[in-house]
Amino acid sequence: MAEAIFRNWTQQHSDDWGHKPVLAHHNLHENPLFTREALAALIESYPVDHYALVHVSHRADKSRVWREGERGELSGTEVIDWIAAGKLWLNLRRVAEVDSRYRDLLNAAFDEMEARIPGFSTFDRSMGILISSPNASVPYHSDLPGQSLWQIAGSKRLYLYPTDEPYLPQAELERIALYGIEVDMGYDPKFDREALIVDLQPGQMMTWPLNAPHRVENHDCLNISVTTEHWTADIRRQQQVTMANGVLRNFLGIRPRSRRISGPGFAAKAALQAAFRRTPWLKQQRRARRPIDFRLAPQKPGEILDIPAYTR
Ligand SMILES: [Fe+2]
Repeated sequence: MAEAIFRNWTQQHSDDWGHKPVLAHHNLHENPLFTREALAALIESYPVDHYALVHVSHRADKSRVWREGERGELSGTEVIDWIAAGKLWLNLRRVAEVDSRYRDLLNAAFDEMEARIPGFSTFDRSMGILISSPNASVPYHSDLPGQSLWQIAGSKRLYLYPTDEPYLPQAELERIALYGIEVDMGYDPKFDREALIVDLQPGQMMTWPLNAPHRVENHDCLNISVTTEHWTADIRRQQQVTMANGVLRNFLGIRPRSRRISGPGFAAKAALQAAFRRTPWLKQQRRARRPIDFRLAPQKPGEILDIPAYTR
């Protein structure tokens, strides 16, 4: 049998899973798939449609300008060096679909979790590798699938918030389901009083209750992290209720009161959201991806060059 991925797993981890934030210890940071050399080779062979390379700057009014770009002629090692020197992040999305070695690892990790957590059964597992600059941050947001964040190198501060009002207004969650808006949630610095704050170190993994809002601040070092997403039958039902409630609130003027995931109310909502998914409206509203309009600047670590914008 292959070596276990988790270390020091206790009954408490199994008991808390899905209800409370869980901090676990893993060995991905020692896995040969995540050395600089392995990641550099992966970057060089990565399909252009599957990665997102984002540059972040700030306007005079402090609002963020996010631009998406390409690695150009740089080697994988240079790409990592440019991220270490710049204001960038690279997301190697859906790596399990791109490379079977990572798919096998993803499946081994979830198989191990399922063996340790009674009743936990997942489908549609996915993995991304996120390489991000020192001091980069991810704004306050909430995700629809189950989420875990695994630290490989560097360290980052994770802020996790409660799943009730005012931290997670249902109308905002419904908007994420309807419009696919990933990072557009109202944040108040006062929320931090109730946040669970964790400095995530290599070998640590954090997972949290479904939809719990969170934000991330890298410490002053290059960060390499893995994000995994998963669905369970329960999470899928929650997602159906969220979308149906969004349709009720936004299109039918009815304020939804229930988040039940069983019984006749749920059945009606499951049918409502299924009908809604078949309308062309949904596709029209999904935001198109940003155009590609920069390339990493050769010879100038951390810098970018403007190129004529194109879309994939
Ligand atoms: Fe997230």
